Formats: sequence, C-alpha cells, structure tokens
Amino acid sequence: MPTFQFLPFAALLGTLGFLCVVFTGFWSHHWRGGFAWDGSTKMFNWHPVFMVTGMLVLYGAAVLVYRVPSSWEGRKLPWKLLHAALTLTAFVLVVLGLVAVFRFHNATGTPNMYSLHSWLGLTAVLFFSCQWLMGFAAFLLPWSPAWLRIIYKPIHVFFGSTILALAMAASISGINEKLFFSLTNKTVPYARLPPEAWFANFLGMLILVFGLLVLWALATPAWKRPESESLEAQQVSSQTAALGITKCGRDGQPSVEIEAVRDYLEKLDVHKSMGPDELHPRVLKELAAVIAEPLESKTSEAAARKRSCCPDSPARRAARCSCCWH
Ligand code: HEM
Repeated sequence: MPTFQFLPFAALLGTLGFLCVVFTGFWSHHWRGGFAWDGSTKMFNWHPVFMVTGMLVLYGAAVLVYRVPSSWEGRKLPWKLLHAALTLTAFVLVVLGLVAVFRFHNATGTPNMYSLHSWLGLTAVLFFSCQWLMGFAAFLLPWSPAWLRIIYKPIHVFFGSTILALAMAASISGINEKLFFSLTNKTVPYARLPPEAWFANFLGMLILVFGLLVLWALATPAWKRPESESLEAQQVSSQTAALGITKCGRDGQPSVEIEAVRDYLEKLDVHKSMGPDELHPRVLKELAAVIAEPLESKTSEAAARKRSCCPDSPARRAARCSCCWH
C-alpha cells in the first residue's frame, strides 16, 4: 500500500467535501427552485444540503481529527473537544435537515418513513445520536471510569465508520429517489438523462469518492495515533507492569501471555482498593475474559517501547536496561 502524507490528503478531502456541499446547493438552487422555510418544496431543498453538509462532510472531518499528526503530541483534550464540537455541529444540521423534510411532507400530506432511503437515513441518524451521547459520556465526562473507555473505544471506532457508510448510502439513495420523483414524463424523463440527471448522478459519485477516501484514511495504519500515547495504554500498562506476569521471550524482550493475564485478573482480591490507574479489582476480575486480550497486546507494546528486558539477556546487555518487571 503506498504511503501518502496525511496533510495533502486531508487538503484533497477538504476540496472534495467542499465540492459535495456546493454541488448539492447548486442542484437545489438551479434546478429545484431554491430555498425557503415554509413547508413547500423549497423547504424540502434544505434537506439534502443540510444532510450532506452535516452527516457527510462535517462528520467526515470530525472522524479524521485524531489522524492529524499534531494531535498525537501533548494533551488530547483540545482534540477531543474539537471532535465533539464538529460532531455536535453536524448533529444540529442533521436535525434541521430532518425538520425540513418532515415539515414538507406534513404540509403536502405526503406519508412519512415509507421508503428504503428514509429507513437507511433514520438508522444513520439514530446510530449517530447514540454515538455522540456515548462518546460524550465515556470520553469527555471527567468521572467516566477507565474500564468504560477501554471497553467502549473499539465499539465507538467501529460505529464511527459504520455511520459514515450509512450516511453515504442514505445520500446516494436520496439523490436517486429525488431524481425519480422530479424527472417524470411531465418534464424530461430520467431515462433521457437530461443535464440535471447528469449533474445529480455526478454528485452521487462525488459523495461516494469522498466517503470511501475518508474510510480509507480511517483504516490506514500509518495515520493512526500511536497507542503508546493513549491514556488507556498508559493506564493498562501501569496496571500490568505491577502484575508480575511478564515472561522473558527468547529474544530477551519481555512478553505477556493472554492466559496469564486472565488468570491473574480472575484471582484478584476484590477487597483491595484501586491502583493508580483507577481500575477497581472487582471490575478487572469480572471483565477478565473480555479485557485479557487487549491488556495483553497493550502490555506487550508498552514493554517493547520501554525496551524492558529480562535479566542477563543479550537485549538487556545491549540496551544497558535497568528496568525489569520480574
Ligand atoms: C445522510 C444523509 C441523509 C439522511 C440521513 C436522510 C434522511 C431522510 C429521512 C429520515 C427521510 C424521511 C422523512 C419523512 O419520511 O418525512 C428522508 C426523506 C427524503 N430524503 Fe433524505 N436523507 C439524507 C440525504 C438525502 C439526500 C442527499 C437527498 C437528495 C435529494 C435526499 C432526499 C430525500 C427525499 C426525496 C425524501 C422524501 C421521500 C422519502 O421519504 O424517502 N435525502 N431523508
């Protein structure tokens, strides 16, 4: 896989996102009569503009905040706040977009929620709302426990991409539906591919390219924030550093086995108080089966980073390492 620089790539994404918004607005303005807030078709025209701007472009920018290399250093809080602010703005636009279409439907006596597009769209919005609330509770509230963040983070990451994929599907199906509704035999049928159809089809393809590139950026390992910097990694490694379950690998580097981690956690004394990582032994014990694996991988990573090594190993001698977890 070729490696690109993140910032030029982000500039390309910014341009594509900007074009998605401008083209959606231009379509509504040029071919669909422009905008109003009065229950008419002009009010409907806000729906695609707000949805594409909020759920696709702003949301796409928000999910890439932690891929900006400067977010990997220093405090994470400002980046968390930026992420939360972008998603919150996206959410406000999404609500306005939904108000526009529901009010238009109600004013014209059109039934609600019958199409595949509306089902896909509402699913995306519901997931998005839950994602925002859960993300806020787990990552921004200062009293949220570390174990909640550890368990919830992979779920948050998974739904981050899922919601974007749903937003792409909703936008493309919405464009298609609008074209079938508007380009009938009374005008120029869609099948004759008039300029409006060309334009809106192109917009759909642009949305597809934008969304796929955001998903690609999310999945590119080189652009992920190194785990060593994350709070969870620090907490977890400090927890297991004290466990005394690190074994000496053949190469002289410390290694940890999942079984050993789970065993250790299951035998924890729940009457003892929390360690410096604020993970209560009862929580660790009850979640042993779930957290043993992530704990093992983070501990191994942390060990490799710290170049901790075993007594008398060639690695220890080479690194003149004084730390050892035995
Ligand atoms: C992520 C983006 C989008 C979401 C989440 C979304 C969501 C929704 C929802 C929930 C409805 C149902 C409203 C009701 O039944 O009263 C709806 C209706 C509609 N949307 Fe979207 N939409 C999105 C993007 C678009 C786009 C880009 C277009 C393009 C013009 C569009 C066109 C329509 C049309 C024509 C309707 C009315 C017919 C129907 O109920 O299916 N939507 N949308």
